[in-house]
Amino acid sequence: MKKISIVGAGQVGTLVALRVAEKDLADVVLLDIVEGIPQGRALDLKQSAHISGFSVNITGTNDYSDITGSEVVVVTAGFPRTPDMSREDLIEKNAGIIKEISLKIKELAPDSKVIIVTNPLDIMVYLAMKTTGFPQDRVFGMSGVLDSARFADCIADHLKVPVNSVNAMVLGAHGDTMVPISSHATVNGEKITNLMNDEQINKTIEETRKASLKILQHLKTGSTSFAPSAAIAKMIEAILKDKKEVLPVSAYLNGEYGFSDVCVGVPARLGRNGIGEIIELDMTGEEKKQFADSVESVKELIQKLEV
Ligand code: APR
Repeated sequence: MKKISIVGAGQVGTLVALRVAEKDLADVVLLDIVEGIPQGRALDLKQSAHISGFSVNITGTNDYSDITGSEVVVVTAGFPRTPDMSREDLIEKNAGIIKEISLKIKELAPDSKVIIVTNPLDIMVYLAMKTTGFPQDRVFGMSGVLDSARFADCIADHLKVPVNSVNAMVLGAHGDTMVPISSHATVNGEKITNLMNDEQINKTIEETRKASLKILQHLKTGSTSFAPSAAIAKMIEAILKDKKEVLPVSAYLNGEYGFSDVCVGVPARLGRNGIGEIIELDMTGEEKKQFADSVESVKELIQKLEV
């Protein structure tokens, strides 16, 4: 049986464990800094196996040596965003945690693919890549799968169509500067630019950018977890089943899209070895400009990191 590890047994981490188990994808190690939490949650999850009918094992631990041999390590450890905080406010708080965890992954799971979830996402992916020293195809972040699902949801709501008839992609940073690519968005193969006017499209773009904030304002405490965990599970499945599926992920750019030494959301082919290739999508002039601005905002924050 394959094995994955999830560092951070909070809301998102626990739901990823549940989704991976229910898809019977791999044995799961749930690790957290707090004693008892991963053990208790893992036991609770494990006891659903007989009911849900999965056969993978789930264990909880505080000991990093248990991540040894993991094919994928998901990092959800850190502080989540509160309604009054931007993702960028989190940078200082979470950078220390990501560094510490990256060094453990480097030591104990040196052949793993690493999926970063901790925010501010693109900055944390960059930090994890530099700290592990892993090649760029093995360290990436969960952003675009989630943001694209939200974009699709907004389009479906506006046009009153089933969400599964929508194809939509969001690139750029996982934050306020994200770039929903409306020129490529379709409903049953028809471009949304033929179905909505500019004002309606801009409204869906704004709603997509604010999708997460809207949830945080409702919840008041806590953060988003159902959709993020679904996005992470999709990425894990693409890797473990070597699907070579093109998914938008935060990846290190080395000249692609005209940018280097930065991590940002781009379409990437995900399979057994991690990122097989980065796909360069045609964008309109306005989308290119927004993408460049988004990359610039990430670069500015990366410069503040002590890598
Ligand atoms: N090592 C291991 N686990 C840690 C560490 C650490 N150094 N620091 C914190 N944790 C654990 C916490 O104990 C907690 O159980 O990370 C977990 C985070 O869980 P939640 O607070 O429930 O956060 P969650 O909603 O799951 O969000 C996880 O996703 O969207 C991002 O920015 C968000 O960083 C957050 C992450």
